[in-house]
Amino acid sequence: MTTINGFINAINDELNKNKEYLTELDGLIGDADHGINMARGFNAVVTKITDEDTDIGATLKKVGMTLISTVGGAAGPLYGTAFMKAGGASVGMTRLDSETVEKMISLALTGIKDRGKAMKGEKTMIDAIEPALEAVRVGIENGNSLIECLEMAIVAAEEGVEFTKSIRATKGRASYLGDRSIGHQDPGATSSLIILKAVTAHYKTKVLEV
Ligand SMILES: Nc1ncnc2c1ncn2[C@@H]1O[C@H](COP(=O)(O)OP(=O)(O)OP(=O)(O)O)[C@@H](O)[C@H]1O
Ligand SMILES: [Mg+2]
Repeated sequence: MTTINGFINAINDELNKNKEYLTELDGLIGDADHGINMARGFNAVVTKITDEDTDIGATLKKVGMTLISTVGGAAGPLYGTAFMKAGGASVGMTRLDSETVEKMISLALTGIKDRGKAMKGEKTMIDAIEPALEAVRVGIENGNSLIECLEMAIVAAEEGVEFTKSIRATKGRASYLGDRSIGHQDPGATSSLIILKAVTAHYKTKVLEV
């Protein structure tokens, strides 16, 4: 069965696998801690969640609060807000559908934008998440399945991550570099893509098992 705990563990595994990679990316335009921050946050999260946590919304709110309390810097509060907002769109639910996923990503994105005062094109996680949301919306309009919507979101987020290489950072630590941030991939956009891929891969294996 697909439990929210399974998804959280899948995210934790992938972030830990990519800890050095994310930290290297942050080393080029930031302070070389993004992988460490994300791994620390999710390592704390998995100690607090079990298969008993069946309410997706309540669990994601717990995830968000844990990220805020264990991860400092920019990404902790931003991802913390994102998970709490996504939880707000899925309270009382034990299964997901495309419409709920759209609402979760939409509220998460708005939360990140409000908290970080950033928009698309500033070389942040928003450059991966906003295209992913748009892709899910297109998928829903086309009547695609949730897996198809998520796969479309991955393609869009990958393009968004690629796009971050071509632009200058105007938010966060990387903005201190000005034009010298151009040519480098944003670590936060990359971790958002990793999370999306982890969720999709986990969902696919679980659905195939049923
Ligand atoms: N205002 C913002 N809005 C959205 N995303 C942001 C913002 N500022 C930074 N980010 C994202 O956060 C990522 C950096 O996260 P990281 O975990 O390295 O925190 P940090 O900036 O090093 O925090 P600190 O500077 O306090 O250590 C960036 O790659 C970017 O995607
Ligand atoms: Mg950093």
